[in-house]
Amino acid sequence: MTDAQRALFFEIHAGLPQQAPGDEASTRRALRLVAERLPTAPRVLDLGCGTGRQTLVLAALLDGEIVAVDNHRPYLDRLAAQIQRGHPRADVRPLEADLHDVPDALGPAAAEPFDMIWAEGSLYLLGLAAALAVIHPLLHAEGVLAFTELTWLTEEPSDAARAFWAAEYPAMQTVAANRALVRDAGFDLLGDFVLPEASWWDGYYRPVEARLSRLRDEHAHAPELLDVIAATQAEIDLYRAHAEEYGYVFYVAQKRPS
Ligand SMILES: C[S@@+](CC[C@H](N)C(=O)[O-])C[C@H]1O[C@@H](n2cnc3c(N)ncnc32)[C@H](O)[C@@H]1O
Repeated sequence: MTDAQRALFFEIHAGLPQQAPGDEASTRRALRLVAERLPTAPRVLDLGCGTGRQTLVLAALLDGEIVAVDNHRPYLDRLAAQIQRGHPRADVRPLEADLHDVPDALGPAAAEPFDMIWAEGSLYLLGLAAALAVIHPLLHAEGVLAFTELTWLTEEPSDAARAFWAAEYPAMQTVAANRALVRDAGFDLLGDFVLPEASWWDGYYRPVEARLSRLRDEHAHAPELLDVIAATQAEIDLYRAHAEEYGYVFYVAQKRPS
């Protein structure tokens, strides 16, 4: 990506309530799957928190501390502003760090193990197996993990979906393959569920798509930027036509005692 394309990518996402499919009810549902395994004031690590849609849901429901990590400072600033306005129950600490450098980049925050690691729409950045290997030692002996991951919902996707994701996310797996990855990484799966289609549209694709029409006019003479806009539109159009073939899946697991 050129600098101008990167800037456009962030312009497309700026000010949105979330940077990936997800919704409050699903975050709460995943938390219910682990709630009884948490101490009263857990230490939580939220990886790739973005502007913190899920961070704020967790912070309203939990006592304790949430270290919310992202490498995009404007997202963290927006999260910090929302924390100041909302006074959540948990103590939320936004932390600018690169997921590729975790745990070193966490600094003193990683000195004590976490009771729970949360990651909505972010583990793909490291690759799921690599991310699970990084997460495992950061958790307490019976710590819990909840993450969402783009997942094939069919063994036989259409040619259109297969071709698009072969280019955009070739590592995408089926639910069965991801369950196996989680188990092989030293976790017991507590549950998984597919996020509803509305969680793609309501806070994410619909506002992004509205923005694309304006940006198409603004950048009508910049072919490299029109390419980014067309790629984003293609992703949305694909989901509109093939939502039953792939989706975001919440996986919830507990570290297996060694
Ligand atoms: C798909 S978004 C998900 C954000 C949020 N969890 C949500 O569901 O709305 C992925 C997030 O990871 C962040 N990110 C991307 N690369 C990163 C990296 N190398 N280190 C840390 N964060 C990164 C992005 O800034 C973005 O906020």
